[in-house]
Amino acid sequence: MFENLTSAPADKILALIGLFRADPRPGKIDLGVGVYKDNHGNTPVMRAVREAEKRLLASQKTKTYVGLAGDLAFNAAMARLVFGPETDMARIRTAQTPGGSGALRLVAGLLRRARPGATVWLSDPTWPNHAPILTDGGLNVRNYPYFDAERGTVRFESMMAALEADAASGDVVLLHGCCHNPTGANLDSAQWHEVADLLVRKGLLPFIDIAYQGFGDGLDADAEGLRIVARKVREMVVAASCSKNFAVYRDRVGAAMIMAADATQADIVSSQVLAAARTLYSMPPDHGAAAVRIVLEDPALRADWEAELEAMRQRMLALRVGFADALRRHSNTDRFDFIASHRGMFSRLGLTEKQVERLREEHGVYMVGDSRINVAGLPEDRMDDLARAIVSVLD
Ligand code: LMR
Repeated sequence: MFENLTSAPADKILALIGLFRADPRPGKIDLGVGVYKDNHGNTPVMRAVREAEKRLLASQKTKTYVGLAGDLAFNAAMARLVFGPETDMARIRTAQTPGGSGALRLVAGLLRRARPGATVWLSDPTWPNHAPILTDGGLNVRNYPYFDAERGTVRFESMMAALEADAASGDVVLLHGCCHNPTGANLDSAQWHEVADLLVRKGLLPFIDIAYQGFGDGLDADAEGLRIVARKVREMVVAASCSKNFAVYRDRVGAAMIMAADATQADIVSSQVLAAARTLYSMPPDHGAAAVRIVLEDPALRADWEAELEAMRQRMLALRVGFADALRRHSNTDRFDFIASHRGMFSRLGLTEKQVERLREEHGVYMVGDSRINVAGLPEDRMDDLARAIVSVLD
């Protein structure tokens, strides 16, 4: 049965976790996988989540099945968090999923049912798992230009020109709702309006992946682009993750959201989403989503969660500024200034694979091969050491 298989290549991001753990050097620096860290290098359970878990354990009377859509109150709270209070919820249906990746895969299952072999346009570059999840789900992928590595900015005109010229009605366009992974370079509001108008004009379906809401410019600001699109289009699909903004990575908490033309169609689409879930994993895990629901529904816990999330966001912004300053001092150039203006957890430094490898081997500095760094992993008390190491591999 298995003799035709060859070993699958290791996931480039997840492989770094093992490499970093195995490195005995005390001064090693982990800028790899997208996990938030405090200034001690820890990823703590958030205060409000811990309290919600206590309440959950004290009050839970059963562990019987929750149903294909998961926790309905969680779904409603997530739809409000993502779409905001002014969106017409009658057209929106939500299914709780195992993380944001589960949401992406579930939406792929829906799209395959709606339009077998549909083409999904992905930004170049994008999160390396996007294409495998979507192709494994039976869809085709193509790329639109997105990032100007020289300038560290969005190639907006090229992006629009490519979608205008090459995307066909019925194609799907995947957009990062905020905090673009891996580049940290995001669309501004005016650009979101232009993209939304293009989607409407060409009959393209927006597929918004929002995995870092609250990590960029704030909870509502980070959803602004998505909400601009939602106000203009008839239909859209969304994959949301709670892994980062609730720090519930291992509990696998996410949501797939579908906006249909009207409530009747939304019900039909929802039935297909649930049928797709039944074939993939049946029902999502309950615990993490139940804790998130408790936080979102309780005003005091919610306020505390928002305050802790805001502190995390501010810390990442300060690290960006400190790192850009250190690189400016040590390189004597403004080459890395873009880091301070990017948003979210990631930026790409613009180093070659070889330079990234040298940083790992010679300095114990770990980052993804395309030179993506996790900003939250920057050591605030060793910015100069890190900047010096980076400058030392530049040529
Ligand atoms: C990342 O991009 O590092 C995170 O989204 C974690 C992952 O699953 O890759």
